[in-house]
Amino acid sequence: MISKRNIRAVSTAILIMGAISGFSQSIPSLKDAFKNDFGIGTALNNSQIEERDPAMTAFIVSQFNMATPENVMKSALIHPKWDTYDFVVPDKLVEFGKKHNIKINGHTLIWHSQLPSFIRGIRSKDSIQTFFNDHIKTVASRYKDNIFSWDVVNEALNEDGTLRKTVFLDYLGEGYIAEAFRLTQQAAPNVELYYNDYNNEQPAKRAGCIELIKKVQASGARIDGVGIQGHWHVGKVPFKDIEESIMQYAALGLKVMFTELDIEVLPRNFQGADVNQRMGSDPTLNPYTAGLPDEVQQQLAADYEALFKLFLKHKDKVTRVTFWGVNDGNSWLNGWPVRGRTNYPLLFDRNNQPKPAFYKVIGLKK
Ligand code: G3I
Repeated sequence: MISKRNIRAVSTAILIMGAISGFSQSIPSLKDAFKNDFGIGTALNNSQIEERDPAMTAFIVSQFNMATPENVMKSALIHPKWDTYDFVVPDKLVEFGKKHNIKINGHTLIWHSQLPSFIRGIRSKDSIQTFFNDHIKTVASRYKDNIFSWDVVNEALNEDGTLRKTVFLDYLGEGYIAEAFRLTQQAAPNVELYYNDYNNEQPAKRAGCIELIKKVQASGARIDGVGIQGHWHVGKVPFKDIEESIMQYAALGLKVMFTELDIEVLPRNFQGADVNQRMGSDPTLNPYTAGLPDEVQQQLAADYEALFKLFLKHKDKVTRVTFWGVNDGNSWLNGWPVRGRTNYPLLFDRNNQPKPAFYKVIGLKK
């Protein structure tokens, strides 16, 4: 177990080593810089949750005040068998949050992806309904007093704004979304409840998202916020749609969050984050193995700067900005939609050193 004191010692060591080698003196803190504006979050993987590397823990604690589990609370992992739940790593996450004063956003209760394999064998509405009810009640009530919020339903929409065909839609009908909010609210009355999706800043999908939210509200269930994941592409960040979305979602009385922010720098022939979409491997699709060219680095920095400028402009509506990973080496974009690439989508490089984008973002607060 690593005490707060040890973490402080490691942080000091990092600063001293940095000063000696000259690579980094004291790095400003994102969470401190934006403390009066919105929360600053990161996705955490198992190694980070289990604090396997004290220097990494110290770094996370110095930069972020909110965290989302990248995988461990997804149903395949937390509910691997019909009557078996695995709370070992999720419980550690909750402890991590308590110990380091980091608010935890649960991710996610109802999602068509990363479902337990036993779901594939189910052929009856009753069994799906039982899974759905038990899963929400068991998981949400376990963490009712120690997580801040839940992504109750994740990625329920198609790009055209219609409802995605999932096992839940097929067996339970469209009411499953409001029902998920109702059940979570019942199990965890003090936890904030969100709908989360990617590309829901795009007009057609946004219209579907607004309709979905209105239906939850009309059902009498509580919904507190909407997450725009924010998996974007360098030089193509849809600023106008993002701003319009902040306004439209906030007009529904919801908090707006950017929940999985990263900016892809590698070639891709589609937009979004549908994990089922993949591209074949080809060396031309992995052009920056030796480092990111300056011109792309500068564009990435400019995109992040403009994004945070927009978030600050709407800080009365935007409550959290969460990056999907601590540093470039942790990013899922190294493995998707092409395996084994070298990607650079975040503010910190593979050694947790700040990139030009970090300084642009921090510079907005000077
Ligand atoms: O843990 C297993 C390991 O035992 C096995 O050897 C290995 C072989 O492939 O797989 C490992 O599991 C992988 C898991 O990440 C943990 O690393 C899965 O294959 C891989 O599919 C999974 O990817 C995750 C993806 O969601 C799956 O849906 C990414 O880490 C995670 O970043 C990504 O996150 C999603 C959000 O939850 C929702 N929005 C989109 C976002 C990006 O896809």
